[in-house]
Amino acid sequence: MSVVTISRNGDIAVVTVDNPPVNALSQALRRGLWDAVETLDADPQVRAVVLICAGRTFIAGADVTEFGKPPLEPHLPDLVDRIEAAAKPWVAAIHGSALGGGFEVAMGCRFRVAVEGASVGLPEVSLGIVPGASGTVRTPRLAGVEAAVDLVTSGKPVKAAKALSLGLVDAVFAGDLQANALAFARDALTRELPPPVLARPVAAPDAAFWDEKRKAVAKAAKGAEAPLRALDCLRKAAEAPFAEAMAFERQTFLDLRASDQAAALRHVFFAERAAPRPAHLKGADPLPLRSAGVIGGGTMGAGIAAALRDAGIPVTLIERDDEALARGMANLRGIFDGAVKRGKLSEAQAEAHMAGVTATTDYAALSDADLVIEAVFEEIGVKRAVFDRLATACRADAVLATNTSYLDPRLIAEGLPHPDRFIGLHFFSPANVMRLLEIVPVPETSDRTLATGFALGRMLNKVPVQSGICEGFIGNRILKRYRAGAETLVRQGVAIADIDAAMRAYGFAMGPFEAQDLGGLDIAFLQREGARAAGQDVPETLGDILVRANRKGQKTGGGWYDYAPGERRPQPSAAVAELLADRITGRTQMDPEAIARHLVGEMAAEGRAILDEGIAASPADIDLVEIHGYGFPRWRGGPMFAASRA
Ligand code: 3HC
Ligand code: NAI
Repeated sequence: MSVVTISRNGDIAVVTVDNPPVNALSQALRRGLWDAVETLDADPQVRAVVLICAGRTFIAGADVTEFGKPPLEPHLPDLVDRIEAAAKPWVAAIHGSALGGGFEVAMGCRFRVAVEGASVGLPEVSLGIVPGASGTVRTPRLAGVEAAVDLVTSGKPVKAAKALSLGLVDAVFAGDLQANALAFARDALTRELPPPVLARPVAAPDAAFWDEKRKAVAKAAKGAEAPLRALDCLRKAAEAPFAEAMAFERQTFLDLRASDQAAALRHVFFAERAAPRPAHLKGADPLPLRSAGVIGGGTMGAGIAAALRDAGIPVTLIERDDEALARGMANLRGIFDGAVKRGKLSEAQAEAHMAGVTATTDYAALSDADLVIEAVFEEIGVKRAVFDRLATACRADAVLATNTSYLDPRLIAEGLPHPDRFIGLHFFSPANVMRLLEIVPVPETSDRTLATGFALGRMLNKVPVQSGICEGFIGNRILKRYRAGAETLVRQGVAIADIDAAMRAYGFAMGPFEAQDLGGLDIAFLQREGARAAGQDVPETLGDILVRANRKGQKTGGGWYDYAPGERRPQPSAAVAELLADRITGRTQMDPEAIARHLVGEMAAEGRAILDEGIAASPADIDLVEIHGYGFPRWRGGPMFAASRA
């Protein structure tokens, strides 16, 4: 079937795009649209054209799979110009998302109308590029420079109502989009047409505006190049003639498309889309998830309950006694109150979220739960006791999950009736914010249970990654190697503050030592002590020395650094230098790039071991773990991608 078909409704033609799954602008689609303009221009019966899409969305953008290949004619900017130059007015009728090249095609049309719930945007910067078919040049002509800067440099789409208020679309309809678009087109023909977007004026802001935006965009970009280059294009669009701005945008687009950052971001784009639906679970039907239980209302339990409520799932929260239950509910209330303060939830939504939580100490309340997630203390005895109670309280087909970080899930599941429904679901703190979800099956876990874990990931908008069983699973195992690598550099004489600064310059929000000071050094210490007590040979770390000197991080006023009372700014510590003096054996000098290269290399080496052992299925999965759980800069593509390019 052709990707573009033309039908008639009186003197209005309807051009329908049908290029599943998301109507991406493949060469065939570009050609089809080009030919449609030619055909309809030549048809004297046709007075206007409605451009509409079949399937789940309007055109979602350029075809990202074509990015690595030589571009084929007709090129997208030429197509947009051709539509704009059509002899008849085109009306873009938008449902789903009009993104990137899709929105650029819509801007080539004389009018844009949308159905409620649709969104439009220019997400190119999230792929490491700038819009390449006039997005930076036409958007300011439609919506003004300020709105265009927000839209293009953030890459975040806006909903139809907002798009209407910004002037990005001309009308928003409830109900039948095609019928409404046809009526809109007929009505438009009764009036003088507005000028094409290219001919509309744009008011250029002063230099101070651009200075201020540059600072703000650089801060938000955290090392990503595309948002700043997009800002340059927008400035050119405001200050230079249309054709000159178009040439500048095109050149920037082509430069960036070939960049390392764009390659990295494309890698992450496809990895993220593949993750929620792993190929080996095709055909495994997940169980329905209508209600869930959470055991333990501490840091993780409350965060997990909040994530479930955000997805609309009713939650039963179980604690060990009434006092702990009240604390758990207060934790949950604190999360929702925080969301209200940040404008993420309305007061009414926060109330509804709370109302959907049943707080109790009685396991009988779980008799009908589809899924129960355990997040109690990290002690095998405590966890086993919880699963004993779940075994009798829950339905035999309810999925039972543990959020353990380091314990062996096989030991937690031991003796559980119907172990095929047992699984590890490792959330990251704060669980309602962090997108990573490690999914850890035990040998008995059925495909159906595993598929249910992935279905949960999709419902919670997480990035689910399957991990085999090893100490720390994928993420914490690599973290351990990363920290050990950083400590080795300290032993060789590299300054703690230099290591942190190098990793920040690489793109992390924090270096490995300041991050430990924030989270506390004691958790990993206790875990090492536990292993030592169990007879394992765990060599002394520098962190052990600090914890033994009661330097557990910010909460004790100092860890790897000193902190002035009430301050969070790390200060190099003479006390630490003294404590570690006899462990520091070298006087190594390393530049920041060498430090980062070495530590990312350590992460990748652990990643390769993890792959060799079959703990992770692919390098891309490891990259997702690091990006979504550990703050690895997205535009570097993750440690496996970065190391493969080094
Ligand atoms: N090119 C090629 N394939 C794409 C694609 C694109 N632009 N967008 C999505 N796909 C593919 C996905 O890889 C996935 O493939 P799979 O089924 O084989 O795994 C399939 O389409 C469905 O994608 P999603 O799972 O993301 O579908 P959703 O329904 O959840 O979301 C969407 C739909 C909101 C359109 C989402 O796919 C999306 O955000 N896509 C990216 C849009 C984008 O970034 N466009 C800009 C491209 S760059 C550009 O246009 C440059 C221009 O200025 C020149
Ligand atoms: P926490 O100490 O904040 O909370 C544990 C909660 O469990 C407490 O509220 C406690 O009252 C409750 N509890 C203890 N025994 C119970 C029982 N028998 N029945 C019901 N409730 C009981 O601990 P946190 O940090 O929330 O950790 C919980 C689990 O999540 C642990 O297994 C931990 O390893 C894991 N985890 C922790 C992460 C973190 O960053 N804190 C990250 C990922 C996993």
